[in-house]
Amino acid sequence: MTNKLKYFIGNWKMFGNLASLKNISQIHRFINANKKIKKSSKIILCVPNTLIYFYTNSMRLKSISIGGQNFNKNENHGPFTGSINASMLKDVGANYVILGHSENRFEGESNKVIKKKIESALKQNLKVIFCIGESLKEKSKKKTLSVIKKQIKESLSKTFNLNNIIIAYEPVWSIGSGKIPKEKDLRKTFKYIKKEFKKIFKKKYDPVVLYGGSVNTSNISNFSSISEINGFLIGGASQSAKKFIDIIKNYYK
Ligand code: PGA
Repeated sequence: MTNKLKYFIGNWKMFGNLASLKNISQIHRFINANKKIKKSSKIILCVPNTLIYFYTNSMRLKSISIGGQNFNKNENHGPFTGSINASMLKDVGANYVILGHSENRFEGESNKVIKKKIESALKQNLKVIFCIGESLKEKSKKKTLSVIKKQIKESLSKTFNLNNIIIAYEPVWSIGSGKIPKEKDLRKTFKYIKKEFKKIFKKKYDPVVLYGGSVNTSNISNFSSISEINGFLIGGASQSAKKFIDIIKNYYK
């Protein structure tokens, strides 16, 4: 993973069908027509599992990487109705996976389970987009930094290949709400994440850290001046190719 690129990652969540694959072609056309953006950005779309094989089998566009959004904590195959594991995701051609998203944490996913999943993803050579972030209650109690530290400490291990992990800071209160953190808070949090990461893992390594939560075509310009932000995890707005493209365009304006 490199900090020389800006990451624009779409999280389609439980949206999208075969017809939505045309959105991917549209984004691809835009990227290829814009040399400067193509050179400086990395585009990853985390789509529903149902679309991954079709994409990798019949589209496979060079400028776009594809990922999943979660998988079962069990590394081996087994009687887990409705689930897939990391190897099944890799098998259909995914290269990335989102893990630790707050929507999954709401359903009971603990830091311990997330750690197991990250381990299993890395074993399969899947790159991980690891989500962290505080709830509104934690924010109001001024616990943002301690919550983040705990999530990093309990979900990552010094033995993991940190090069294959992208961190996405997504304040839970910001996801889908239209609210974004103040610039000064963001600067402070991003500096803290990068510093803690080095401290915990005793490495000079500068992690790729993204912002996620209500990123849209108009607020994206607020983030451009914050150099610590290495990119964005975009939920709702990524379901529209036009909005996703406009976010990228406006970022570089
Ligand atoms: P949002 O979602 O952009 O719709 O707020 C972000 C996310 O859940 O990753």
